[in-house]
Amino acid sequence: MLIQNRKEKIIIIDFGSQVTKLIARRIRDLGVFSEIITIKDLYKVKDFSEIKGIILSGGPSTVTKKNFLKIPKKILLKKIPILGICYGLQLIAKLFGGTIKSLKKQREFGRASLVKRQNSVLIKNFFKGKKSLVWMSHQDAVTKLPKNFKIIASTKESKLTIIENTKNKIYGIQFHPEVTHTQNGKEIFKNFLFSICNIKKRWHVFNEKKRLIEEIKTIVKKDKVICALSGGVDSSVVALLVHKAIKTRLVCIMVDTGLMRKNEFKHSYNLFKKKYKLNVKLINASKLYFKNLKNISNPEKKRKIIGKLFIKIFEKESKKHKNIKYLAQGTLYPDIIESRSSSGSQSSKIKSHHNVGGLPKRMNLKLIEPLKEFFKDEVRILGKSLGLTNSIRNKHPFPGPGLAIRIIGPITPKKIKILQEADNIFIKELIQNNLYNNIWQAYAGLLPIKTVGVMGDSRTYEYTCLLRAVISEDGMTADYFSFPKDFLDKISNKIVNGVPGINRVVYDITSKPPSTIELE
Ligand code: XMP
Repeated sequence: MLIQNRKEKIIIIDFGSQVTKLIARRIRDLGVFSEIITIKDLYKVKDFSEIKGIILSGGPSTVTKKNFLKIPKKILLKKIPILGICYGLQLIAKLFGGTIKSLKKQREFGRASLVKRQNSVLIKNFFKGKKSLVWMSHQDAVTKLPKNFKIIASTKESKLTIIENTKNKIYGIQFHPEVTHTQNGKEIFKNFLFSICNIKKRWHVFNEKKRLIEEIKTIVKKDKVICALSGGVDSSVVALLVHKAIKTRLVCIMVDTGLMRKNEFKHSYNLFKKKYKLNVKLINASKLYFKNLKNISNPEKKRKIIGKLFIKIFEKESKKHKNIKYLAQGTLYPDIIESRSSSGSQSSKIKSHHNVGGLPKRMNLKLIEPLKEFFKDEVRILGKSLGLTNSIRNKHPFPGPGLAIRIIGPITPKKIKILQEADNIFIKELIQNNLYNNIWQAYAGLLPIKTVGVMGDSRTYEYTCLLRAVISEDGMTADYFSFPKDFLDKISNKIVNGVPGINRVVYDITSKPPSTIELE
């Protein structure tokens, strides 16, 4: 379903590529609203007047087989500019009579050198000479040009890497301009948007605040809304938005599980209560959490216990408030995209935040999800427009089960305390050394192994602290952050000297995949 009516937008038809989301990001970053839709959604579009351009994404399907994902050719002939990327190019070629073959021996994965053959509006400022480095990921290639198309650029393996039919404003490229490994990929999008689609740079998430508040007012009317506030950026922005719309008819519940970072919960509670004047109820449930988690080592069991307990506490508390009709939730755009398949069917599992999943049905509440059109970075900007303090706005993501999944093995209050201290030293140093905002997520974890150390003249036998810091765009993949050696030396010293219970510090140098960001 198209989410919104807008005056102008670009739609991206998702054929299932892992990086479709990045296309939408790049376009929005250029000041144009973009929306990802499924093939099924496309059939429901009656009015194309607001659609100024269509991008066909990559995907795992192959036009060399009998059954492949397709869209009606007449959509491509509406004189709305089309840009096909990877599978999108192959589909265009197939629909217009070209030939596509499987590159059994010479598949192209990774960087490739693209050579310019002739000029095109699409490649203005893209080549800095005759060649440019692009990112390829394909097994099929177009081997015969469709009628009325011409070749713009080639690589060694695929001659038809950029093709165009200017009369019908149809363009196809085999490489991925949306990934950062493609040099100057942004120029392709710029040219497509501003020179081919003739769309104007008018959209910015900062200006969405007013519309969102009005929308919440219209939906909620005189009813009440409840929300689980964790102090993370998503739930904080949701709470501020809903509060601006309906003031004290928003009830915020903060459940202190005892599994949060040092002093963080107290700090957020005071901020929302005193500075933002929200109607917040704080529930201290740490004893209950420790009791329920006693001797539990299995990661999935830990997660389930924490999630179920949260629902129980939240439900009990909400019953104290009469006439609540809505639950406000910080679902983001990637959650929506990931929960549906490219052919349009809803996949079985909708990814939901562990501690609110299941709540709306159980409590008979309707959902409001004001952030469902936005990416995380955009939510941070929305937060800015709402006056949300930088310490929350720029906060690294934090998992619902909290420190429980950063301590391997059973949780005890003592281990939590040790970890909170180590983590606090690490995070503070990141902030002081201006590294915090360059890192997507960083934390300290506690490994259950004790090792021998020596401090002064005494033998120690204590836990190992693991430090993790990653850079990422959306948490789906991540690379470990390369710290200068001096910084690691300093942190290791500070933690071992400052935190009784830890005598060894290690730095995790695995990326995702094969590891995950969290330990459990
Ligand atoms: P992984 O460990 O799967 O984490 O690589 C990817 C991102 O998801 C966060 N994460 C969670 N967030 N509830 C959350 O709200 C959870 O149960 C949960 N588990 C992982 C993790 O912190 C990282 O940002």
